[in-house]
Amino acid sequence: MIDRVLLSEERIQTRLDEVAREIDALYAGREIHAVGILKGSVFFLTDVLKRLRSTVVVDFLQVRSYSGTSSSGNIQLIRDLSMDIQGKDVLLFEDVVDTGLTLRKILDLFESRKPRSVRIAALLKKDLPENRDIPVEFLGFTIGPEFVIGYGLDLDEKYRNLPYVAIWDPSR
Ligand code: IMP
Repeated sequence: MIDRVLLSEERIQTRLDEVAREIDALYAGREIHAVGILKGSVFFLTDVLKRLRSTVVVDFLQVRSYSGTSSSGNIQLIRDLSMDIQGKDVLLFEDVVDTGLTLRKILDLFESRKPRSVRIAALLKKDLPENRDIPVEFLGFTIGPEFVIGYGLDLDEKYRNLPYVAIWDPSR
């Protein structure tokens, strides 16, 4: 049911070199408090962090929103951070910004914890009006509205391990 490969492994890895350079340049020697949103961001996060020269601390949180190929709109925090983010320069890692609801919920949650800064790195952002206000400082690729799998992105927990991103077409 893979319609076509949208982003090859080589294209992703080449873009990540650039994204990592942009991150290092912006933080300029400051410690980065990287936060991965489980589970989809793990592949993107590890590939980017391995390229950084900055000092990095890593933490994770987990939310649940999707069922099958559609967002439930109801975002639940099912695993919180293990570390305090007060005064930290937090860099959130997201696999794909779709409706933007997940990031909005996390940004709201973090506000009360008084980080020094919060920025967003996303592998993908879907080109949709509803997520235009989500500030993604470090973006891999803008894509269309299609449902995609691979490189961390799942369909019912499968296909995360594909090294490329592909469009899912249930009619095939
Ligand atoms: P949002 O809250 O609608 O922005 O959705 C964010 C989350 O939904 C992502 O972290 C993914 O886990 C999931 N998601 C959204 N679009 C896709 C997709 O095309 N493929 C796989 N997962 C997706």
